[in-house]
Amino acid sequence: MAGGMGDRMTKRIDDEIIQRINEDTSIVDIISNYVQLRRSGVNYVGLCPFHNEKTPSFTVSESKKIFHCFGCGESGSVITFIMKKENLDFREAVVFLGEKLGIKIEEGLIEDHIIIDERLKTYEINKKAARYFYDNLKGNVSAQKYLANRKLSGKVINQFGLGFAMDSWDHLYNYLSKDYSDEDLLRAGLIGKNKNSNGYFDKLRNRIVFPIIDIKSRVIGFGGRVLDDRHPKYLNSPDTNVFNKGNHLYGINLLNKYSDRKRILLVEGYMDVISLFSMGINYSVASLGTALTERQAKLIKRYGDEVFICYDSDEAGIKATLRAIDIMTKENMNPRIITLPKGMDPDDFIKEFGLAQFEKLFINSKNAMEFKVQTIKVNYNLDNLEDKISFTKEVAYLIRSLKSPIEQDGYMEQISNDTGISKEAIEQEVKGIKISSFNKDYRNKAIKSHMDPIHSKLPSGGIKAEIDIIKLMIKDKDYFEYISKHLHVDKITSPECKYIYSLLNLLYKDVEIIDKEVLLYQILEIPNLDRNLIDNIFLNNLEYQPTNINQVIDDLVNTVINSNLKNQERDLLIKIEELDKKDRNVEEDEVLKKLLWDLIVLKKELNPNN
Ligand code: CTP
Ligand code: MN
Repeated sequence: MAGGMGDRMTKRIDDEIIQRINEDTSIVDIISNYVQLRRSGVNYVGLCPFHNEKTPSFTVSESKKIFHCFGCGESGSVITFIMKKENLDFREAVVFLGEKLGIKIEEGLIEDHIIIDERLKTYEINKKAARYFYDNLKGNVSAQKYLANRKLSGKVINQFGLGFAMDSWDHLYNYLSKDYSDEDLLRAGLIGKNKNSNGYFDKLRNRIVFPIIDIKSRVIGFGGRVLDDRHPKYLNSPDTNVFNKGNHLYGINLLNKYSDRKRILLVEGYMDVISLFSMGINYSVASLGTALTERQAKLIKRYGDEVFICYDSDEAGIKATLRAIDIMTKENMNPRIITLPKGMDPDDFIKEFGLAQFEKLFINSKNAMEFKVQTIKVNYNLDNLEDKISFTKEVAYLIRSLKSPIEQDGYMEQISNDTGISKEAIEQEVKGIKISSFNKDYRNKAIKSHMDPIHSKLPSGGIKAEIDIIKLMIKDKDYFEYISKHLHVDKITSPECKYIYSLLNLLYKDVEIIDKEVLLYQILEIPNLDRNLIDNIFLNNLEYQPTNINQVIDDLVNTVINSNLKNQERDLLIKIEELDKKDRNVEEDEVLKKLLWDLIVLKKELNPNN
C-alpha cells in the first residue's frame, strides 16, 4: 500500500465515518457538557460560549444536528463545536467524538489515498457519463417523445439532468474508454464485462437515464427506464465505491437546494419525485426502489421537520409503508401517512388532480397508529359481530404497544366509537395482553419445528459466524430474507441460533421489525440454553460497515456452511473408523460402503474444484 500505514498525510477519514459521527452523536448531549441548555420548542437554547451575552441566542437543533448563534453568527456541526471548544483539528475532533460512540477511528477506518483517488475517478466517470447521456437526448426522437408524453418540460429535464442511453452495446464504453482504463470503468458500475468474449458492454441500453445525485451535487449512480413496458422497467447502478443504495435518497440534492425544510415527503419512485417537483413540490425524495433503511430515515429526519410518507396505493406500497413507519418510529420520528386512491402513485395523482388536491392529502394524512388501524380494518366487515371482535382484538395489540397511557386511552375511545364495543371491554382486552404471553404461539411452534434436545452439542468452528448471522437477521428484515434464501436453518449447528432463526422465520411473517426485548423475553423462557451465547447475541453490537455488508453476509454464510460440512465430515470419519476396525458382518459392510460414499460426496461439496 503506497504511503505506508504510518503516514498521516496520505490518509483521511472516510466520509461515511464523518456522516455517522454527525448522525449518531447527540449534539445536545455533547454541547450540554459545555453550555447550560434548556428546551425551547423543538430546539435548545443557552448562553453562547463564543461571545459574551446575557440573553441566550445560542441555539442547538438535535434533529438538524447543528448549532447556531443568532448573536455572533457562529454555527456548525457537533464536530465544529468540539474543534472550537477543545481546540482540536478536524481529525482530532472526529477521533474525540468517535471514542464516545465506540467507533475506533484509528483502526482501519481511515482510507489511504489510493481509495480516495479511485473514488474521485468514479465521480468523474459518472459525471462524464451523465453529460454524455444528456447529450444523447438531443439526437433521439423516441426518447424525446417519451419524455414529452410524460409531460416533462425541458426545464425539468435539465434540473434532474435526465438523459438517454443509446440502443447500442458499447456506445458509452467506446466513449469513456478513450480516457479511462477498463478497470476504472468496471469499478464505476456502468460497464459490464462479457464472460465469454472478454469484451465490455454498456449496462444501460435504450433507456431513459436518471442520474442519482448526492447532497454535494456529485453523480453517484444511475437509474435507467425502458421506453415501453418491457422488463425490467428500471435498471439501477450496483453498489460501487461511491454508491450505496441504502445511504441515499433520490431528489435530496434538489430538496437541499430549494426546500424550506418544513416538510419532507417520502415517495417510491424516480418519476414521483420529478413529477411532484415540476408541479412545485420541492421537498420529496424517493428511497430508490428498496425498502427504507435506518440511514435513510435519519436523513429524512434531518431534512424536514414534518415527515410524510406517500407510497403507491397497492399492496406492496402498504407493506412498504408499514415497514417505513416501524423504521422511523425507531428513530423517534412521527411520520404522517398519505393514502392515495387505489392503484395510484403520487405522479398519477398530481397529474390527474393537480396541486391543490394534492395539498388536501396532507390535511387528510393519518398518523402511524391511525394508518395501522385503517390497514387492519379493510380485512373486516364491522357490521358482522364476529369480525368486530376479531378486529378489536387485533387493534388491542397495537394499542398495547403504545408507550403513553394517554395515547392508549385516546385510541381505545376511538375504536369504541368505530365499533360500538364499549371502551371498558377494549380496555380489558388491552390489559389482558402481557408481554410475556406475546406471541407464545410462535414460541411453541418454533420449539416444535427445530429444537432437538438430543442433538444439542455445541460445535466450535463457525459458531462466531452463526452468531453474526443471527444478529444480522434480527437487525434487518432484508438481511433476514437474503440469508434465509442462502442458508437453510438445518445448516445452523448451535441450538440457540437455530432456535432464534426459526423464531424469526415465524415473527417476520407478521412484523417488519423485531422488537429485541420481546424476542429476548421469549428466548429466556426456554430451559438449558447457553446464556453466554444469548448474551453475546443480544448485548454486543455488530462491527460491520454498511458499505460492504453484502460481501460480509456472503462470507458468513459460506463460513457456516463450510463448518457444518466439516462437522459432518468429522462425524463420518469417526463412524467409519469404528466400523473399519471391527469384524464386520454383511450388513455392516454395506453400512461402511454407504458411509464411505457419503464421505466422498461431502468432500466434493467441501472442495468443488477437486
Ligand atoms: N424500481 C426498480 N426496479 C424496477 C421497478 C422499480 O428499481 N424494476 C424502483 C425505481 O426506483 C422506481 C421505484 O422502484 O422509481 C418505484 O417503482 P414504480 O412505481 O414502478 O416506478 P415509477 O417511478 O412510478 O415509474 P413509472 O411512473 O415510470 O412507471
Ligand atoms: Mn410508481
